[in-house]
Amino acid sequence: MRVIVQRTSKAEVRIDNQVVGRIGKGFLLLVGITDGDTQAEADYLAKKVAQMRIFEDADGKMNLSLHEVDGQILSISQFTLYADCRHGNRPSFIQAARPQVAEPLYDYFNEVLRQQYSLHVETGRFGADMKVDFVNDGPVTIILDSAQTGNTKQQRYEALLPQVKAVISSEADDIANMANIAAMLHETFHFWWTGFYRVVGDELVLGPFQGPLACTRIPKGRGVCGTCWQTGETQVVPNVALFPGHIACSSASRSEIVVPIRRHGEIIAVLDIDSEQLATFDDIDRQYLEELVKLFDR
Ligand code: SME
Repeated sequence: MRVIVQRTSKAEVRIDNQVVGRIGKGFLLLVGITDGDTQAEADYLAKKVAQMRIFEDADGKMNLSLHEVDGQILSISQFTLYADCRHGNRPSFIQAARPQVAEPLYDYFNEVLRQQYSLHVETGRFGADMKVDFVNDGPVTIILDSAQTGNTKQQRYEALLPQVKAVISSEADDIANMANIAAMLHETFHFWWTGFYRVVGDELVLGPFQGPLACTRIPKGRGVCGTCWQTGETQVVPNVALFPGHIACSSASRSEIVVPIRRHGEIIAVLDIDSEQLATFDDIDRQYLEELVKLFDR
């Protein structure tokens, strides 16, 4: 996710000659979303924007945040931030997320600025032909890119693992620990569905999870979860539609990772995570999640 922050003394956006958003002093934001972005990226950049100190104090130093100057935000969606200009003279926009992904995330980003940071946020209209007029005061223009801001997937897993360890080290009950781990993974990554299936007899039975309603029982060898149990191998599925026998608990799920959980060599459960975007999971997820579930082997 990319956000261009421009310090402004006044800004407005028009659609068909009608003003749909207008602010005085504050930030004009251009917001671009790429495939793989989640609410975690939006949370992170909203916090950066809300806390950024680029207004001058009494000594003329860039020191004050939006709140301290009573500033407002005009937020404009801008898929061209993901133009790839390396080849030829016509930019490619293949890295920009599809509207079905980008629009809800853009709305979410604006809502976080409003609700968590109590900022006044005006917007344009996603996908519309807009005319934006503004004064760039300075000029001051800052580029924020969630891929370059120290908030990579590895760093989030690195921060999460010790927390999980601390939380479950003093609790022996597997279900309680699964519940907290599902919650912590969900809070960190906001995946579509994050949860556990436990081995009970010859079936996997639904355990603690975060996300929408899910199927309760999965036979060995069935679906991604049953395959994980049968083979004892982590399953990384970039496109669930291409996985033979995938069990669609929700039609929104598009990619999935399932990790076997062992205790003394026996598989006792699987950790299942679903994403509403394609190809969300890779070797980094596999490595950290396998590490995480080792905490059950005691
Ligand atoms: N898709 C899984 C079923 C569980 S849900 O994703 C929560 C599977 O194919 O095993």
